[in-house]
Amino acid sequence: MSDKKAYLDCDSCEERIELDVLSGTVGPDAVDITQLYGGAGLFTYDPGFLSTASCGSAITYIDGDEGILRYRGYPIEQLAAKSSFLEVSYLLMYGELPNEDQLSTFTNKIMHHTMINEALLRFFEGFHCDAHPMAMMVGVVGSLSAFYHDSIDMQDEAHRELAAYRLLAKMPTIAAAAYKHNVGERVMYPRNNLSYVGNFLQMMFGLPCEDYAVDPLAERAVDLLFILHADHEQNASTSSVRLVGSSGANPFACIAAGVASLWGPAHGGANEAVLKMLEEIGDASQIDKYIDKAKDKDDPFRLMGFGHRVYKNYDPRAKIIREVCLQVLEKLADSNNPLFELAHRLEERALHDEYFLERGLYPNVDYYSGIIYRALGIPESMFTVMFAIARTAGWVSHWMEMLKDPKHRIGRPRQLYVGADQRDYVPMEERT
Ligand code: CMC
Repeated sequence: MSDKKAYLDCDSCEERIELDVLSGTVGPDAVDITQLYGGAGLFTYDPGFLSTASCGSAITYIDGDEGILRYRGYPIEQLAAKSSFLEVSYLLMYGELPNEDQLSTFTNKIMHHTMINEALLRFFEGFHCDAHPMAMMVGVVGSLSAFYHDSIDMQDEAHRELAAYRLLAKMPTIAAAAYKHNVGERVMYPRNNLSYVGNFLQMMFGLPCEDYAVDPLAERAVDLLFILHADHEQNASTSSVRLVGSSGANPFACIAAGVASLWGPAHGGANEAVLKMLEEIGDASQIDKYIDKAKDKDDPFRLMGFGHRVYKNYDPRAKIIREVCLQVLEKLADSNNPLFELAHRLEERALHDEYFLERGLYPNVDYYSGIIYRALGIPESMFTVMFAIARTAGWVSHWMEMLKDPKHRIGRPRQLYVGADQRDYVPMEERT
């Protein structure tokens, strides 16, 4: 702990309150207010956690002003260029890059937990054929709790690790099964001799009646998108996983809570919303009209894929994704893709507009990812599901970190009560 202090003077305090200031490795210091209520009877008020660090974490570092993202200290640009999703998952979970043996053992373990109980497969029959795949994900991931009773002793590190492996391994299987249910095709079983992403693509696009060859371009592009989506410190879904997990809940229920939180259009649902928005805009002649709508406070329309709670500069992930998007479209001989062209023109227009500049609104990770997914044949409704598969690496890492932290307690925020003061019950006949 540093010896820095912060002081609080306020009308309701009898004396000046001294608070410890905590310093991390990098990034802003944090005022330790844990004793504030006990000592001075005061709460802090911070809706949306704009200025609140909810925990200490050694997993991911973001500097939103500088556009920096690092996993365990490694810059995202280096990981994107040199690593793979499973290597990054190992890094997030264990804190260090694996050596060859460690990566091979880890990969082998993950790839041998890919099957799901046959009874779980029958769950899909209960969903309507047009059920949103995220709705199926929330239900089926939560239902894993009913099957894997041998890995739910949260005090046991080996149980926690096994639950994390199972989640990472089974998410693609559940995701692909949800897709197959939507399109009315038979579920494809995992092929453990393929890569993590290759196996997912095989389960998505393979058919029982013919051989499926994994396209290396699609495999690399999806692997890269998974790396970029793997973690993002205390975002809404990760905080949801931590909050649910803080009560000692079953790990599968915790991750189902993460999936539910991710689904919202302000979070992981944005990549689906971006494509819907681009389609609604239609062509470049409509851009000014939609920019005006985004700026109009009486209009609920927002430029989807723009803005971020933390990044007030270009999201470093968006820069990488934009490049990959171009490469994918070029290789698919689709470099004149009208949606990419429109997205590019819209971005240019917004980045020259005072409204967006003043507020630090730049393209985020979701702005171009949907265009890549669509070019690879992945339908819009699956975009957030893809995000969920990747973010599972971050969710399980945070969940494991939290349970190991001796300071962890059940998450229980307080409130500023603004309702009625005490009043007496009014009998029905006296009410107006
Ligand atoms: N279009 C138009 N105006 C915007 C936008 C936008 N996309 N985003 C923020 N603003 C304005 C907002 O109206 C406000 O203006 P004012 O100060 O005049 O009231 C100002 O910018 C600050 O916005 P905020 O809503 O207070 O910012 P926030 O940190 O609470 O919200 C956000 C961040 C990501 C929810 C928001 O920028 C947004 O809704 N973006 C569109 C949805 C989106 O792309 N989400 C994906 C986020 S990245 C993926 C992930 O990590 O999940």
